[in-house]
Amino acid sequence: MEVIKVEGGYPLEGEVTVEGAKNSALKLMAATILAPGVTTLTNVPNISDVHVMGKVLKYLGAKVTVKGVHELEIDTSTIDKWETPYHLVAKMRASTAVLGPLLARFGKAIVAMPGGCNIGARKIDMHILGLEALGVSFKVDHGNIHATTPKGLSGTTVTLDFASVGATENLMMASVRAKGVTTIDNAAREPEIVDLANLLNEMGAKVRGAGSPVIEIEGVDELHPTTHRVVGDRIEAGTFIAMAGLCGRPVTVKGFNPRHLGLVLKKYEMMGLTIDRAMDECTVSRTGAIHAVDIQTLPFPGFPTDMQAQTMALLALSDGSCIITENVFENRFMLASELQRMGADIRIEGHHAIVHGVAGFSGAEVKSPDLRGGAALVMAGLVADGTTTVSDIYHIDRGYEGFVEKLSAMGAHVSRVEVPDQDVL
Ligand code: UD1
Repeated sequence: MEVIKVEGGYPLEGEVTVEGAKNSALKLMAATILAPGVTTLTNVPNISDVHVMGKVLKYLGAKVTVKGVHELEIDTSTIDKWETPYHLVAKMRASTAVLGPLLARFGKAIVAMPGGCNIGARKIDMHILGLEALGVSFKVDHGNIHATTPKGLSGTTVTLDFASVGATENLMMASVRAKGVTTIDNAAREPEIVDLANLLNEMGAKVRGAGSPVIEIEGVDELHPTTHRVVGDRIEAGTFIAMAGLCGRPVTVKGFNPRHLGLVLKKYEMMGLTIDRAMDECTVSRTGAIHAVDIQTLPFPGFPTDMQAQTMALLALSDGSCIITENVFENRFMLASELQRMGADIRIEGHHAIVHGVAGFSGAEVKSPDLRGGAALVMAGLVADGTTTVSDIYHIDRGYEGFVEKLSAMGAHVSRVEVPDQDVL
């Protein structure tokens, strides 16, 4: 099995360009189902989650062709199945994003129920309740959700209990073909939602208000294929920004819109980082200490839960004490115990992490708890005393393209190493 080895004490410096957003690309790929024919997506990251979504589309009968390095051609005219099996949903929960588009185009879908996952229960009850309001009937048996639209889909108002990203996206993709107008109230406002709305509108849909809490979708009779560029990955960018802030030397992060990280950059400035923003890049550095600042995760434009782990690694070396509150996912503090192995002083109490800054990390063998936690451990390794070995790096491969190569190009001493299974935690 492969691990990532990081030799501490080699700070990042220089520049890095991020890929298209994982969380957008996955939903845009699902949305191609809505428009029979060939849709081209550019700026698609080459990461394992995208490969899984490609497998889901192929399983349904679509033809997925890799054109350039970051370009996918998806021909959905050949889709002849409506079922997403458990072995794919279990690999990636986001494959449930095909539910809305399959219902809109074929009036039926069978999607395996996602099981629990390591960052909490991650239910899909809001997806189900919202789709029911649009006229979908659900039956659950043998672990599968069978969805049909006995009388077609009809527009209505759906008020979400919580601004769920996945539920907002599934409802948008189902309602583009519904009769009449659908209003999603308390909709998620993430930049990836806006990217999806842009793609849908380029396909001929009528979606208004994406990026605000109220999205209105006027149903249309058909959608047509198009070509679309995936928005830059604000979380990949945020990860490199946090890493640069930890190391101190100037790093320019390119290929994303700094406004998509508004609150993260503001909090990082409060922590003592210097950040120069430009249109689609920013430059980060730090000379003084890292200051302790409280953080609480919330849906966009709040502090993203997907930046919580990287921020915990920064705050673990701050000059004081602070509280990180996780409001979006239960059980998303698994990183804390791994950072403790590296010398951090973090106590978890429910959905709060109490972080007391320490002077430094000491290199250790640690295990990626999840995607962002894995990146945060490599980050801690950059400044640790000695060598850090991070295992379970398949988590990192889900969302970061060429992670080790990008860090090496900025001066880090980091490599992927094959080790016998029994040598890993
Ligand atoms: C997406 C992102 C993920 C990010 C999250 C929040 C993708 C592939 N993933 O996940 O990286 O961390 O948004 O920004 O885009 N919930 C329910 N019932 C539902 C739906 C959600 O209880 O029907 C709960 C979830 O368990 C979770 C919270 O709502 O506690 C937020 O979930 P949601 O916004 O839906 O996140 P995802 O779309 O799964």
